[in-house]
Amino acid sequence: MSRRFGRTFAILLGSLLVTAFLGGPLAAQSSEERSVLDGVYSAEQAERGEATYGSECALCHTTQEFTGRLFQLSWSNRSVHDLFRSIRNTMPFDRPGGLTDEQYSAIVSYLLKLNNYPTGDEALGTSEEDLANIRIEAPPSR
Ligand code: HEC
Repeated sequence: MSRRFGRTFAILLGSLLVTAFLGGPLAAQSSEERSVLDGVYSAEQAERGEATYGSECALCHTTQEFTGRLFQLSWSNRSVHDLFRSIRNTMPFDRPGGLTDEQYSAIVSYLLKLNNYPTGDEALGTSEEDLANIRIEAPPSR
């Protein structure tokens, strides 16, 4: 009796694991793919990013460097994570990685805002999982 119960339990557990392994990632991938045109950061976050940019980046950079068609096309079809990681790995120039992930994420939000990408209800995250699924694309040319 208890052996039978054990076997049933094992089969149940096995099928749960199979569902988790096969169904989970496949379902997540197709439904969570987004673009910067979908409103992936919040207005409040971009404001925080602007303040941090002002104290940490503006000394060496003008905002023109990070805006406009040239910037959008050069980052096109890469992910927000690529941009986030590139900034975190190299900036501020004199102390790469010196800010928190939240600060880097807010700065990226501010750069998205500068490029007139729409705001959304939710803030941009900090995890690779979140950011790698958001594609950068240039708005359609007029
Ligand atoms: C002390 C000066 C300094 C500060 C502060 C600084 N940067 Fe830079 N940044 C540079 C220099 C110099 C380069 C060019 C480095 C190179 O080409 O190797 C650069 C390059 C970059 C690039 C790459 C541009 C490209 O065309 O690939 C980005 C993006 C960037 N900075 C963003 C930032 C951000 C965001 C901050 C604030 C968190 C910041 N920087 C702070 C000096 C600075």
